[in-house]
Amino acid sequence: MSASDLPLDTALPIDEISRARLESDGLRLALVDAHDQDAYESWFRVESRGFHDGEPTPEHIAWRRTFPFDGNRVTGVFDDTIANPHAPVATTVCWPAELTVPGGRSVSSWAVSGVSVAPTHRRRGIARALMEAELRTASALGQPVAMLTVSESTLYGRYGYSPAALARDVTVVTKRARWTGPQPTGRVHFLTAEQLREVGHEIVERVRLRTPGQISYSGLLWERQLGFSPSDQHAKRLRFIRYDDADGTPQGFAVYRLVENADDFTQHELVLQTLVAATTDAYAGLWRFLIEMDLVAKVSAHLRPVDESLRWMLDDFRAVQVSEFDHLWVRVLDVAAALSARTYARADRIVLKVTDPLGFADGTWLLDVSASGSATVTPSDEPADATLSVNALGSLYLGGATAHHLAATGALTGDAERLDGLFRSPVEPYLSIWF
Ligand SMILES: CC(C)(COP(=O)(O)OP(=O)(O)OC[C@H]1O[C@@H](n2cnc3c(N)ncnc32)[C@H](O)[C@@H]1OP(=O)(O)O)[C@@H](O)C(=O)NCCC(=O)NCCS
Repeated sequence: MSASDLPLDTALPIDEISRARLESDGLRLALVDAHDQDAYESWFRVESRGFHDGEPTPEHIAWRRTFPFDGNRVTGVFDDTIANPHAPVATTVCWPAELTVPGGRSVSSWAVSGVSVAPTHRRRGIARALMEAELRTASALGQPVAMLTVSESTLYGRYGYSPAALARDVTVVTKRARWTGPQPTGRVHFLTAEQLREVGHEIVERVRLRTPGQISYSGLLWERQLGFSPSDQHAKRLRFIRYDDADGTPQGFAVYRLVENADDFTQHELVLQTLVAATTDAYAGLWRFLIEMDLVAKVSAHLRPVDESLRWMLDDFRAVQVSEFDHLWVRVLDVAAALSARTYARADRIVLKVTDPLGFADGTWLLDVSASGSATVTPSDEPADATLSVNALGSLYLGGATAHHLAATGALTGDAERLDGLFRSPVEPYLSIWF
C-alpha cells in the first residue's frame, strides 16, 4: 500500500533505517493495509500465533474487521523465502491515544501493540528493528511519548521504556470480609452487554482524566471488555451490572463471571473483570454487591489500581490479598512537550539532564514550574540539578515512581527529595486495560 492510503496523522512511509537493516538480512519491512482483507487476515493470524492464541476463526476475523482501522499503523516484516511468504514473520500495530497525565490533562502518546516475531525468526534483531522504527515514526509524527503494556518486563527497557503505572491483582476472601464501608445510597441493576455498551463507555470517558495513566480507547478494546470478541471463552458467563445513584444517574458498572466449585456450591469464585466507578458511592455500591454475593467464597480481580480503597471498607484488612506488577510502560520522546503537558505539585525551577542512548530525549532542560503547577520547559545550558536516564524520566512522568527509588538504582543523581516534591502525583497512576 502507499503511505497516502493511511489517514493523514499516521501516514508516514516506512522507517528507512530499519527497512535497510532488515533488507540486509533478506527481510522486508512494510506497512500492511488493514483494509485489504487478505493482507490483514495474514497479519492477524501471525499476531495471534505470536501470542500463543488459537487460530482465529472466520467469525473472529470478521469481527475484527468491523472496527475502523483509521489512525492505526499496521506493520509487518516479510521473508519472501518462507513457505507462505504472504504471511509476515513479525507484526506490530501502533496508534495515537490520549494518555492522562497529572493535573487532569492528557498528552498524545504513541500506543505500541501487537509486537510479535515468529519463533522461526527470533533473536536476530527483528523486534529491535521494529521497536526503533516505531520510535522514530512516533517522533516524526510529533508524539511526545510512546507507551505499551508488556508480556515480559525484560523486553523494553533497552528502548528507553520504563514502568510508569503499576497494577495489582486482588483476592478477597469473602467469608472474612464484613462490609464496614459507606452505605451505598443508590442501587445495582443487571444489564445485558448491549445495554452497557454505550453507558459504560460514557462512564469510562467521564473518569478518564482523573487518573494519570488511563488512556483513551473505544472500539475493539472496549468491546473486548464486554465479551463481544468471538474468541472470548468466558463471554457466555459474563454478568453486567450498573450502579445508579439515588437520583437514578448511572455512576459505575462492573463485569464479572462466576467459576463454579462443583464439589461445594458454597465455594464459588467470582472473577471481576472490570469495575469502574465515577463516585465513592458507586465504588462502595458495586464492591459491596460483589463481596456479599451468596455462594461465593472468593472474589478475584485482575488489573486493579495500586490505591484500591476496598481494604479500608472491610472489617478484616487481611481478607484482601494483593500482588503487584508493572503494567503501563512509558517512553519519553520529546522532553519539552511531555513535561509541559502535565502539572507539578509545587513551584520550582530545576535543570534536568536527560541521557538517552537513542538520542530522542538527550539534552539538558529547564523545568520552570509556576505557582499554579504549570510548567514551561526549554533547553538549557545551566548546570544540571539532577541527571537521569530517559527510563527514569518515563517512570517519574506520571507521578507514580519515586525519585529516591530511582536514585537508589543509580538511574538518577541529584536531589531526589526535591524531584519527588515536584513530580509525585496525588492520584496514583493506573491503567485499567491491556492494549
Ligand atoms: C519478544 C519478541 C518480540 C522478541 O523478538 P526478537 O526478534 O527475538 O527480538 P530481537 O532479536 O530483536 O532482540 C532484541 C533484544 O531483546 C532481547 N530479547 C528478546 N527477547 C527477549 C526476552 N524474551 N527476554 C529478554 N530479552 C529478550 C534480545 O536479547 C536483544 O537484546 P539486545 O539487542 O539488547 O542485545 C519475540 O520473542 C516474541 O514474539 N515473543 C512472543 C510475543 C511477545 O511476548 N511479544 C511482546 C509483546 S509485549
